[in-house]
Amino acid sequence: MTLPTVFLTRALPSEVLAKLQPYAQAEIWPEETPPPYETLCQKAAQVDAIITMLCDRIDAPLIQSCKNLKVISQMAVGYDNIDLQAAAQHHIAVGNTPGVLTETTADLAWGLLMAAARRIVEADNEVRNGIWRPWGPDVLTGQDIYGATLGIIGFGRIGQAMARRARGFDMRILYYDIQRNPTAEQTLGVLFTPLEDLLKQSDFISIHAYLNQQTYRMIGRPQFECMKPTAVLINTARGAMVDPDALAWALQEGRIAAAGIDVFDPEPMPANSPLLAMRNLVITPHIASASKQTRLRMAFMTIENVIAGLQGLPLPYPVPLPT
Ligand code: DGY
Repeated sequence: MTLPTVFLTRALPSEVLAKLQPYAQAEIWPEETPPPYETLCQKAAQVDAIITMLCDRIDAPLIQSCKNLKVISQMAVGYDNIDLQAAAQHHIAVGNTPGVLTETTADLAWGLLMAAARRIVEADNEVRNGIWRPWGPDVLTGQDIYGATLGIIGFGRIGQAMARRARGFDMRILYYDIQRNPTAEQTLGVLFTPLEDLLKQSDFISIHAYLNQQTYRMIGRPQFECMKPTAVLINTARGAMVDPDALAWALQEGRIAAAGIDVFDPEPMPANSPLLAMRNLVITPHIASASKQTRLRMAFMTIENVIAGLQGLPLPYPVPLPT
């Protein structure tokens, strides 16, 4: 009996691949960089399942050209790179890896918050470049975190994990989401606040929303103009929610004090981006879920989705498709 086929756009750990082996014949893209779109289209058109990363464009033309594809299994919680409408039309199941990366992602968001507020990367760079300024009243002064106000945009799993961290710092916590969460308001002591008020009142603003038409470029010049000049913006969600030109303007002009970003639009960040020269910006290259333990759990979930999808079973971690 011939096994169904799977194309993986990136290599996964051997113990994860071993789990797939009895169920499918795998072809693995050997590079660290994603396969070019044309290659991805060619490969996807030949297989029964694809394992994708968030930087693989799985759009309607690609999906339409796949005759045998039964399942798209994404190794990420976000799936804005996948055209769900097209997947639904072609009866292709889509899976993701929710839950397991919540705390890991919130850890990195918190790390960026602390690093940007207290200028940790800037200070480290100075020391490594031979500059150890004598202790002085205003040397490398940043923003207090303890007791400050945190505004969380998007109050799903990761937003709530951020709130739990903020409680340990005795912060006042505001949140904005399209859906109010009265239970979390009680248990976490957070306050639902309309977006504009949240932007005005917060010392720290952290984005944890999904990227969609409503959240695309939700932070631009008008929103930066609402923020305090001492505010620190953190984005570990999706780069496209923040207008990159407006961010550069806000940091350059001192409209906000600092920012910490793990995501950017586009990724990779262009080498000539003016943001790279800004000392009040801490940048990491989309690594919020990148702990060894979490990435292994994500990889196993990805494989479990593929195995179920190939057998025509409901995916254990399905993405709801539009009807
Ligand atoms: C996701 O899984 O969507 C995250 O962006 C990964 O870091």
